[in-house]
Amino acid sequence: MPTGPILCVDDEPNNLALFRQILGEDHRLVLARDGLQALRAAEKHSPSLILLDVEMPGMDGYEVAWALKAQGSTEHIPIIFVTALDREVDERTGFASGGVDYITKPVSPFILRARVNTHLSLVRTSALNRSYQDAIQMLGIAGHYNDSDTGVHIWRMAAYARVLAETVGWDPERARLLEQAAPMHDTGKIGIPDEILKKPGKLSPREWNTMKRHTEIGFEILSRSKAPLFQLAAEVALNHHERWDGSGYPHGLSGSQIPESARIVAVADVFDALATRRPYKDPWPLDVVISKITEDSGSHFEPRMVDAFLACMPRILQVKTHWDQRETPDGDVLPETP
Ligand code: C2E
Ligand code: SIN
Ligand code: SIN
Ligand code: FE
Repeated sequence: MPTGPILCVDDEPNNLALFRQILGEDHRLVLARDGLQALRAAEKHSPSLILLDVEMPGMDGYEVAWALKAQGSTEHIPIIFVTALDREVDERTGFASGGVDYITKPVSPFILRARVNTHLSLVRTSALNRSYQDAIQMLGIAGHYNDSDTGVHIWRMAAYARVLAETVGWDPERARLLEQAAPMHDTGKIGIPDEILKKPGKLSPREWNTMKRHTEIGFEILSRSKAPLFQLAAEVALNHHERWDGSGYPHGLSGSQIPESARIVAVADVFDALATRRPYKDPWPLDVVISKITEDSGSHFEPRMVDAFLACMPRILQVKTHWDQRETPDGDVLPETP
């Protein structure tokens, strides 16, 4: 969450006093009288927002903005330019310098407050989105922590799930949500003992009964959140091992009783599991994986889903290549190369 103050930069003390009067009651402010002071204050106080005068002696506002954008620690801070200049060319320079907004003097208290609140709430939303991304990643990794593959599997299979969802007609927004939910499908493995997860061979019937519990454990954890993302993740976690013919677990659902999200993830999960190494199995060659999925159409998988999966195979293989290139020998993820 942004907790930083608002940095107000103006060479005219009266203007700074005006900012204080308009914003001082609701916000913590840091004031700066010129460009250099502004850069130092931005570095020191990590402001959530900067109100920046354009016409100042020494460095002008645009130069200050360029300097802030060139610095990793300050580049993300939104800048609102405040200036008496109102010609169109200046607005363009302002946006080109990385400004998110533009307010002209004389400043109207109403507009200033409204703009500041808008931009602070955008900052909060993007911080929240980053927290969400982190939470998804943490739950995904927790689920595979004792597994051989912590990193790439969950992202790769999630990307498959999105492609398949789009292919069967989900709108892009919803398909993207499924991509974010899918990495959490095995969160419940956190509740399964190491000796079972890491067992090199076949599981005993008793161990297998324990293993199957990962679906319900995942559901119990993820369904605590009412957020649509986690509701979807909980649905997927519970149902991703159900089978079209009713022979799956935990509830033996069949056909359209199984949520479509889980029918999609089932294909993506098995495709990736078969093609990669597990503590208990070697990777299978791609053509054998594809024959197995095709063979299981109508038993394990919904036939429509298998048809769609085969139809979008070129895109699936692009995704596979992309992620395979980012996999280290230990199954970790290399950072994205631009
Ligand atoms: P997982 O390794 O992520 O595998 C996910 C699913 O991919 C499996 O769900 C299964 O449908 C498919 N799959 C993976 N490997 C194979 C394979 O060699 N042959 C075939 N036909 N399908 C395969 P499933 O069976 O419900 O298993 C769920 C989880 O239980 C697995 O997740 C894994 O963590 C564990 N598990 C399953 N079988 C064994 C085993 O023999 N030994 C050990 N140590 N763990 C196992
Ligand atoms: C396994 O995971 O070893 C069995 C997979 C299956 O029953 O299809
Ligand atoms: C196992 O026992 O290891 C897997 C059994 C199954 O997938 O049906
Ligand atoms: Fe699973």
